[in-house]
Amino acid sequence: MRGEGKAARQKGRVIVTATAKGGAGKTTCVSCLGSYWAATGRQVGLLDTDPNQTLARWHKKGGELANLTLRSETDEHAIIPAIDELSAAHDVVLVDCAGFSNQAMIFALGVADLVLIPAMTDEANIFEAAKMKRLVDSTSQMTRRTIAIRSILCRVKRSQVAEHSREQLKVMGVPPLMARFNDRVAFQEASFFGSSPVTLAPKGPASEDIKAVAEELEPLLWRGKN
Ligand SMILES: Nc1ncnc2c1ncn2[C@@H]1O[C@H](COP(=O)(O)OP(=O)(O)O)[C@@H](O)[C@H]1O
Ligand SMILES: [Mg+2]
Repeated sequence: MRGEGKAARQKGRVIVTATAKGGAGKTTCVSCLGSYWAATGRQVGLLDTDPNQTLARWHKKGGELANLTLRSETDEHAIIPAIDELSAAHDVVLVDCAGFSNQAMIFALGVADLVLIPAMTDEANIFEAAKMKRLVDSTSQMTRRTIAIRSILCRVKRSQVAEHSREQLKVMGVPPLMARFNDRVAFQEASFFGSSPVTLAPKGPASEDIKAVAEELEPLLWRGKN
């Protein structure tokens, strides 16, 4: 049960990747961060709540993702129990959401330690990120607690447009991470293998992107700052 006595093991931290924009990078964030934290010795649990089951499909390919615990749950009423079970047994739980707002997403937001909103560098993505922030705000009000929220720029092609997008995200109250996922073919290749650049190209630039993002998130998750 949540919040049980002092002796209880600290629950794993719960990150929910969410935006109603399809293709923004939710599943890539989950698979890459999950792979990175597993490679650095943390116990990682994954939860696929997307009816498209992209993460579950990647997990079945037998690459490094297959070494992580994955649960697939599209019944909204099973989402919170699944997150609770995973967080009892893992250091971090990454929840992948569908590319549209649904009840499963709201339940996951309700128990998130951090909501990570991926956004590509265009108007429609930034608009959806701002909409998602409003949904998180309402979920915060509903659950009477503050839910930490960050955006992450994904598939960045040009620094200039990334800076503009970052400014827009700040104005809209969706604080962007400094680190970002640049547009790199290694992310796409990894998806075919159920793997991630963390093991496919550990010294490559995509791996550096992942490390930078993970290291920026870690203090938010494990040192109580947000
Ligand atoms: N940083 C990136 N560089 C290149 N391709 C990317 C990057 N991030 C995601 N992709 C590709 O874009 C597509 C959509 O990403 P995905 O993570 O599935 O988005 P979502 O889960 O939000 O729908 C996938 O084919 C993925 O491989
Ligand atoms: Mg997805």
